[in-house]
Amino acid sequence: MSELNKVRREMAAVLQQPGVRPDPKLKIDRRTFVHRSCLLGAATVAETFAWWPLLNTIDVAYAAEAPFKFAWISDTHLYEKSVNTRFVDKVTRAVQEVQAMSPPADFLIFGGDIAQLGKPGELELGVEILKEVKTRKVFIPGEHDWYLDLGKKWGQLFGEPHWTFDHKGVRFIGLDTVSRAPDYWTMRKLSPEERMDYMADLDGNIAGPWAGVGRDQLDWLQKTLANWDKARPVIVFSHNPLYEYYPPWNFWVRDWRDVNEVLKPYTNVTNIHGHCHQVLYNEIGRMRSIGMLATSWPWPYAPEGVPKLTTPMIRVDPGDPFDGMGWSTLTVNATDRVENEYHMFGRKVVLAESPADSSLSQPEILRARIADKMWPY
Ligand SMILES: [Fe+2]
Ligand SMILES: [Fe+2]
Repeated sequence: MSELNKVRREMAAVLQQPGVRPDPKLKIDRRTFVHRSCLLGAATVAETFAWWPLLNTIDVAYAAEAPFKFAWISDTHLYEKSVNTRFVDKVTRAVQEVQAMSPPADFLIFGGDIAQLGKPGELELGVEILKEVKTRKVFIPGEHDWYLDLGKKWGQLFGEPHWTFDHKGVRFIGLDTVSRAPDYWTMRKLSPEERMDYMADLDGNIAGPWAGVGRDQLDWLQKTLANWDKARPVIVFSHNPLYEYYPPWNFWVRDWRDVNEVLKPYTNVTNIHGHCHQVLYNEIGRMRSIGMLATSWPWPYAPEGVPKLTTPMIRVDPGDPFDGMGWSTLTVNATDRVENEYHMFGRKVVLAESPADSSLSQPEILRARIADKMWPY
């Protein structure tokens, strides 16, 4: 057994103990357009964890909040218009669809990678396009937004990269998972453009394990949650997933175990993330993670580590520049459940309908590429 698999097995033993899954009744319908990723509704918890003594009281106290929707767009990867406009049409379409929501979304979260090369003109173009969404907007950064000027322009446009607010009985938290990369540029004497170029590679052989939350932000997270009732819903936005999916592509944060330690006491946590550009679903302890579509392009599933709970998305039509891309509506209903609806452009069916539709179901072992094997973790 490889070292990585050994670690994974140990982690699973610690984190996935019997009885601590968020909701064993979760069903993901392969055919449905709506990917129902239900948060811990208090009633469900009562059935699952009968030992929870105060649950019904909590349920009565907090279930009266009105249902509401919010929208997610991310990974637009815009170039300046003078270079090309190939991704502009797609985010424009997402923006129009968000703006057409009725009733309107309470807010829009933009989940990072607004830019492709981190140039001020790319970030400004994103702001310009997103102006069409009139509702409140909140932003977290992606690595493509950050590594040309180490977040200077992003900060000027959007402010602090991590934040929190409460909305209709839910504590929302935006995390910055991109800014704490180990310094791979100083010793190599890289220019800002070269630093950004390496960051833009999916295989991060030079940029390394850049995705992380960092001790200071973990402390902030802990403090932020200290006054929050442990049974009430928490929704954490992050660019990278808050679990280990596939480190060579930074489909993780390197300190995800620490994140889990901070979140562990809270029984109703959902992490909504970008970066992977594909349909994803996972559970770690009591935290659910839902991966969002990009508007720019879909990444393939990684050669290993795809969570067992993920029902893969359909194979994309390479002749259709909109296929496999889109945005999401998330609904928090009156019993604190969250339902995620993927809006894949032009598709009524988002999830794979049969095992043969995805290479993940093939019996052969997919081999990691040479570049992936060089990964030090
Ligand atoms: Fe991205
Ligand atoms: Fe990214």
